[in-house]
Amino acid sequence: MGISKKHLEVVILLSCFNLRGPNLLGLATATTVIRGNDTDQQALLHLKAKIIGDQLKVMESWNSSIHFCQWHGITCGRKHQRVTKLELQFLELSGSLSPYIGNLRFLKELNLASNNFYDHIPQEVGHLRRLESLRGSIPPALGNLSSLEELYLTYNALSGVLPEGLGRLTNLTHFSADENSISGIIPTAMFNLSNIIVFSIGGNKIQGTLHSDLAITMPHVGAFSVWGNQIYGKIPISISNASNLYQLQLDENRLSGNVPSLEKLENLFVLNLYTNHLGHGIEGDLNFVCTLVNNTKLGILSIHNNNFGGVFPKCIRNFSRTFSVLGIEHNNILGRIPDGIGNLNSLEVLRASQNQLSGPIPSDIGRLQKLKKFYVDSNFLSGIIPHSIGNLTMLIELALDVNKLKGSIPSSLGNCQNLLRMTLSHNNFSGSIPPQVLALSSWSILLNLSSNYLTGELPFEVEKLKNLGELDVSKNRLSGLLPNNLGSCVSLEKLFLDGNLFEGPIPSSLSSLRGLAALDVSDNNLSGKVPEFLASFGALKYLNLSFNDFEGVIPSEGVFKNSSATFVEGNNKLCGGITELHLSRCNSAKSSNTSLRLKIVIVAVILGVTLIFLFLLILLLRKKKEQQPTTTCAENSLLRLSYQSILRATNGFSTQNLVGLGSFGSVYRGILEETGEVIAVKVLNLLNHGASRSFLAECEVLKNIRHRNLVKVLTAISGVDYQGNDFKALVYEFMVNGSLED
Ligand SMILES: *[C@@H]1O[C@H](CO)[C@@H](O)[C@H](O)[C@H]1NC(C)=O
Ligand SMILES: *[C@@H]1O[C@H](CO)[C@@H](O)[C@H](O)[C@H]1NC(C)=O
Ligand SMILES: *[C@@H]1O[C@H](CO)[C@@H](O)[C@H](O)[C@H]1NC(C)=O
Ligand SMILES: *[C@@H]1O[C@H](CO)[C@@H](O)[C@H](O)[C@H]1NC(C)=O
Ligand SMILES: *[C@@H]1O[C@H](CO)[C@@H](O)[C@H](O)[C@H]1NC(C)=O
Ligand SMILES: *[C@@H]1O[C@H](CO)[C@@H](O)[C@H](O)[C@H]1NC(C)=O
Ligand SMILES: *[C@@H]1O[C@H](CO)[C@@H](O)[C@H](O)[C@H]1NC(C)=O
Ligand SMILES: *[C@@H]1O[C@H](CO)[C@@H](O)[C@H](O)[C@H]1NC(C)=O
Ligand SMILES: *[C@@H]1O[C@H](CO)[C@@H](O)[C@H](O)[C@H]1NC(C)=O
Ligand SMILES: *[C@@H]1O[C@H](CO)[C@@H](O)[C@H](O)[C@H]1NC(C)=O
Ligand SMILES: *[C@@H]1O[C@H](CO)[C@@H](O)[C@H](O)[C@H]1NC(C)=O
Repeated sequence: MGISKKHLEVVILLSCFNLRGPNLLGLATATTVIRGNDTDQQALLHLKAKIIGDQLKVMESWNSSIHFCQWHGITCGRKHQRVTKLELQFLELSGSLSPYIGNLRFLKELNLASNNFYDHIPQEVGHLRRLESLRGSIPPALGNLSSLEELYLTYNALSGVLPEGLGRLTNLTHFSADENSISGIIPTAMFNLSNIIVFSIGGNKIQGTLHSDLAITMPHVGAFSVWGNQIYGKIPISISNASNLYQLQLDENRLSGNVPSLEKLENLFVLNLYTNHLGHGIEGDLNFVCTLVNNTKLGILSIHNNNFGGVFPKCIRNFSRTFSVLGIEHNNILGRIPDGIGNLNSLEVLRASQNQLSGPIPSDIGRLQKLKKFYVDSNFLSGIIPHSIGNLTMLIELALDVNKLKGSIPSSLGNCQNLLRMTLSHNNFSGSIPPQVLALSSWSILLNLSSNYLTGELPFEVEKLKNLGELDVSKNRLSGLLPNNLGSCVSLEKLFLDGNLFEGPIPSSLSSLRGLAALDVSDNNLSGKVPEFLASFGALKYLNLSFNDFEGVIPSEGVFKNSSATFVEGNNKLCGGITELHLSRCNSAKSSNTSLRLKIVIVAVILGVTLIFLFLLILLLRKKKEQQPTTTCAENSLLRLSYQSILRATNGFSTQNLVGLGSFGSVYRGILEETGEVIAVKVLNLLNHGASRSFLAECEVLKNIRHRNLVKVLTAISGVDYQGNDFKALVYEFMVNGSLED
């Protein structure tokens, strides 16, 4: 026959296939094979004949005026002039796929993603069902493509099981079927695919156990990824011998038992074991961690949400200098955060929350110059926050809450100019709040200092918290008047001042905090009237004024209309309000003098009539106004903008459009092509690369800040710019004559 079977090296890329038609799978029939390079030309012409829609007219080049190897989308082998690649992705082609495709015997790669082919994929390509409804299963006939080397079925909706026959694809090097709905077990025979390099079936419903000989039967495996399934049992000890592994992702399964030694895994870069039932909650569980100590490539170790016990392994300080993410939270890990952790000068994320760590935070933490996220909340850490924390200038999030830390909050935190979120609550911190910390312009999500022993006044630097969404200083020993410039914190949605010794009135400047959803000033010594402006805060859903010394009439509108939202007990001098608040009636001045009474009645009637007239007038004016078309776009349409449209809107971030520059980022003015809306784009320069996947989630808070009459955040953008750098921006409505800080 002259043709070695070896040459049918078909790479089938079915991701994003867009095939329509009946769910048919014809039975295999032998394809008539005309051998030679004419076969390929014939096959391609048959393919062309079945393509009926070709808006981009790409198929016109498929004509006899040039050699078929020059036709669009065709790549031929250099020596033998046979088709090796057929790439017709994203060409808006429609029609069906001719069975003659099966004659392209030298085809290595076939990519038809994102077209409109209907009907089934002919069995000649390996008997794949058409995938548009994606309800199909992987056809067992695929097992007959014994030369297949790479098979990608990622991001479809394949159900059913992994056919036993896949175990016959002995030449398979890459198998990816992530993010489908495949169930059943991994066929034992698949563990026998001795040439496999990438085996990836994450995000399915696969059950069963991992074969104990895994690394023996798959000696070349580099990426083994079964995350997000229902796999139980132990991690095979044989994995210790999988020296080619660079990625081992077993996370989000039901694995239990010990993790074997990983000493020989010299190439390991990612080890994800999180969210399983690994470990026994005892010493020794973490022995495997130290077996990674000589591994020079390790970047990510995530073992959180397991049952690992024992002490925090000291060997971590000897880990690779490229090590960047350590996630060990939510286990039963004891002991101290090891001194020497500062050696890990590439570390960007250190998460150790919800363990039983004790002892101090080592001072050399300050050497982690790249650290962006540091979470050690819900442990038993004691001692002070080391002053060196101020050296962590890349820090974005700091969580130290629910520990036994004491001493004062170091003013050096004021050097961490990228902080968005910090929680220090439920510790024994004392002293005053350092003004330098409040003065950081980066604060935008949460600053929680609650449940400590902080004293002194709320520093006037609180006015710098212009972008902060939530401020919680409750349950401390703060005293003095509430600073008037608290009214500058116009982004606040939640403000908790309760459980302190504040006195005096609620400052009138707070009338500018129109976005407040929750305000708790309970359990202080505040006095004066309850401000009327609170009744006009449309977003306010929780207002606690309890246990203060407020006096006078309580308003009855807005939040005050709702007794499940307003709390006023323990204010003996308050009166009025809705009956459900159970306050006493307000005493009107009693007088026995009937003439005075009469006068009052007359004045009241005149006033009443005037008011009614005024009211009617206002109503009339309003109605007129309402009939005019509103200029702003729909209230809830949080825009979905791409980097590209922002780029266009700001004229490529031109200097002419630059309206402000700060440590937190640059602000550009722009006009959206899509809507003509004038926007302000705040490009954040706080995040450089990596470890920032959660940005959008973080921005959720910001995005929801939509104060009336205030700057409205239209959307937050996170992605990658054309240079491949992370790009983060907040898009606001543009306010003429107003800086964003206003
Ligand atoms: C087939 O190959 C022969 C020799 O290699 C060559 O002369 C001929 O032109 C080729 N035909 C096509 C259609 O490419
Ligand atoms: C044949 O293909 C060539 C090259 O792509 C093209 O220039 C030409 O217009 C095509 N001829 C016809 C008749 O479509
Ligand atoms: C696979 O090949 C075997 C032997 O060549 C044949 O008997 C069987 O019918 C084929 N299976 C399918 C589903 O085509
Ligand atoms: C796996 O391969 C071995 C040796 O080649 C063989 O003995 C065994 O039966 C195979 N197992 C399966 C399930 O195919
Ligand atoms: C690893 O491989 C060596 C040599 O082939 C073998 O002796 C040893 O038993 C293997 N270890 C495991 C845990 O499979
Ligand atoms: C790491 O390397 C050192 C020095 O070469 C050696 O003494 C130690 O046993 C190695 N540790 C592991 C776990 O491989
Ligand atoms: C591990 O790190 C510590 C502290 O930096 C150092 O004293 C020790 O020699 C290191 N051990 C190895 C095996 O490199
Ligand atoms: C913090 O940085 C300063 C200067 O940048 C340096 O002198 C100091 O040693 C650092 N402290 C720690 C604990 O890394
Ligand atoms: C209101 O504040 C008081 C005093 O701090 C507290 O006891 C009460 O639980 C608060 N009400 C609500 C609903 O949280
Ligand atoms: C509350 O404030 C009043 C003055 O407004 C003062 O007389 C009183 O001592 C204060 N009570 C507490 C407990 O601080
Ligand atoms: C009253 O407030 C509660 C708590 O915020 C809320 O669940 C409820 O919907 C409010 N009722 C009305 C009528 O606004």
